[in-house]
Amino acid sequence: MSRVFQPSAHVVEKSRLPSLDKYKEMYKNSLDNPEEFWSEIAKEFYWQTPYQPGKFVSYNFDITKGDIFVKWMEGAVTNICVNLLDRNIEKGHGDKIAYYWEGNHPDDYSRITYRKLKDLVCQFANGLRSRGVGKGDRVSIYMPMILETVVCMLACARIGAIHSVVFAGFSSDSLAERMSDCKAKVLVTSDGAWRGEKLLILKKTCDEALEKAKTKHDHTVETCIVVSHLAKASPCGKLGDIQSLYDWNDDIDVWWHELIENQSNDCEPEWMDAEDPLFMLYTSGSTGKPKGVLHTTAGYLLYAATTFRYVFDYQEKDVYWCTADVGWITGHTYVVYAPLANCATSVMFEGSPFYPDNDRYWAVVQKYKVTQMYTAPTAIRSLMKFGVENVTKHDLKSLRVLGSVGEPINPEAWHWYYNYVGSERCSIVDTFWQTETGGHVLTSLPGATPMKPGAAGFPFFGVAPTILDDNGKVIEGPGEGYLVFSRPWPSIMRTLFGNHERYQSVYFSKFPGYYCTGDGARRDEDGFLWVTGRIDDMLNVSGHLMSTAEVESVLTEDSRVSEAAVVSRPHPQKGEALHCFVILNAGVQPDPSITDALKKHVRARIGAFAAPDAIQFAPGLPKTRSGKIMRRILRKIAVGDTDIGDTSTLADPSIVDQLFKSKP
Ligand code: WT7
Repeated sequence: MSRVFQPSAHVVEKSRLPSLDKYKEMYKNSLDNPEEFWSEIAKEFYWQTPYQPGKFVSYNFDITKGDIFVKWMEGAVTNICVNLLDRNIEKGHGDKIAYYWEGNHPDDYSRITYRKLKDLVCQFANGLRSRGVGKGDRVSIYMPMILETVVCMLACARIGAIHSVVFAGFSSDSLAERMSDCKAKVLVTSDGAWRGEKLLILKKTCDEALEKAKTKHDHTVETCIVVSHLAKASPCGKLGDIQSLYDWNDDIDVWWHELIENQSNDCEPEWMDAEDPLFMLYTSGSTGKPKGVLHTTAGYLLYAATTFRYVFDYQEKDVYWCTADVGWITGHTYVVYAPLANCATSVMFEGSPFYPDNDRYWAVVQKYKVTQMYTAPTAIRSLMKFGVENVTKHDLKSLRVLGSVGEPINPEAWHWYYNYVGSERCSIVDTFWQTETGGHVLTSLPGATPMKPGAAGFPFFGVAPTILDDNGKVIEGPGEGYLVFSRPWPSIMRTLFGNHERYQSVYFSKFPGYYCTGDGARRDEDGFLWVTGRIDDMLNVSGHLMSTAEVESVLTEDSRVSEAAVVSRPHPQKGEALHCFVILNAGVQPDPSITDALKKHVRARIGAFAAPDAIQFAPGLPKTRSGKIMRRILRKIAVGDTDIGDTSTLADPSIVDQLFKSKP
């Protein structure tokens, strides 16, 4: 039995949702009367044309009855950028700080008000239009955590262009594939950025990606817009002659500052239908090819705004900080759209938790008097090892809510976060969601719900979770199985860009009538939901999702490798780490130089976060007679667990012994 933690008086006093009963009442209403519930929230926002009553939500989740679709607020017309900026300024908040920006170097910081942000967004939006970008065009963004990144996303939203942010830790191959898949017209980047003491030359990666898009995928990006960031940043390490590190091609490259020079800070928004696309974001797919998850306008706005308000209990004078990179969905929803929709003040942090020292996070909390902090278990675990003095020497009493996201939080990390960062008086919200869900779907709520370390808690308003067994039978009450949802909430993705078939087959074909998350979950005696992890061939390394197929296909690109199988094994900081079984071609001798080369190759092709921890040269793989690799057995071998159970379905059971013997 795990201990139950009740919200502290410190949290309840201020909470807009101060009791469990209040949550239950609102939750029930959100399911019984979705139109009433969400249209009440919609009233706060600006609609050029209001929605047609009676058509608030329509959907089909049952593949046996026809195509899957989800529509919210059909007929309504709006612009999300206007709602985030113009609306707040008109309400008199133009001088409110939208972001405190904290650079990689502690000497680099700035702030921006809602008014100034709108001016910059309009100028850049006009700049994009001058390059021929309009409604429905795709803009790829490969940027560090700087204010221009937010400006760029909102400028796209203002003119109806679909942004596709690619995390700036991805390789040039990954960027090329993503730009080509969505046929991006424009790429926006910066010359580079510091990450701790490491200098990243982003423009160089972009040069390579633009070339690869052309030669490998037959796609030409018309314009590459480059922010000059390094010249403004304090050097954090060795800085050579930056400009010699990348190319400049006058035909497509243009400096950001030159593009916006002379652009007006007025920009007529593009009026968008409720279901017009807002952005797409690639996430790993189990076949290896990334999936372009597409989100639309009105539903995403409503849901992002509402989750932020209740899950973080954001109040007018609070200072909120989400540490996630804008390259992931967490950064989209909870660094950009949701805080601005609530006229919040946020911290945006460019740097690393370890630079210049291992207490940087806590120094930032103290500096800006952060009230809500939102980070990942992997970050917490990697900071725990430096001792609590790093935390306790800072004044963290401003904190009220501590968020966690990306993977189940292990109880040890939960307790550390709760005791030392939160001084036993903050609420921890363990938010379960996905790129596909657009916003939190399972979570605890500060002030309202009790907490159990490691449990994601309860469904958010409008969300109807179900647990199914292998046969698709609903498990009522306590039990464990597949986590699915029986109806849409406003921000669920609408399709995979250019591939509705794949959308239907990946998410809706396994259990007709349900959206299938790919995760397992358990409901305990008290009704808490615990997410138990992926049940498909997906891996979660430091909160980054990737597929076994993706890594395996990269490994087999090496001409010495004939076959590869990748599994994950537990890792104290990363959560999971990659353990790769590699079969070499006949005549090739195992050698540490091959191990090195393969690790480097995975880094280069996918990104540094995908670097394998172990490469094991294997004589063969445990396969069934029909040829399916039994990853269950490989996972046991990776951790040295000899209790592997039944091997009778293996074509060659002796392989198991050989694999244990060949462990590095
Ligand atoms: C997968 C989604 C949306 C957040 C960033 C990751 C895992 C995420 C939790 C949590 C248990 C979690 C799931 C999910 N996950 N948050 N609080 N508890 N598991 O977005 O890359 O789309 O990954 O991350 O496995 O399916 P993503």
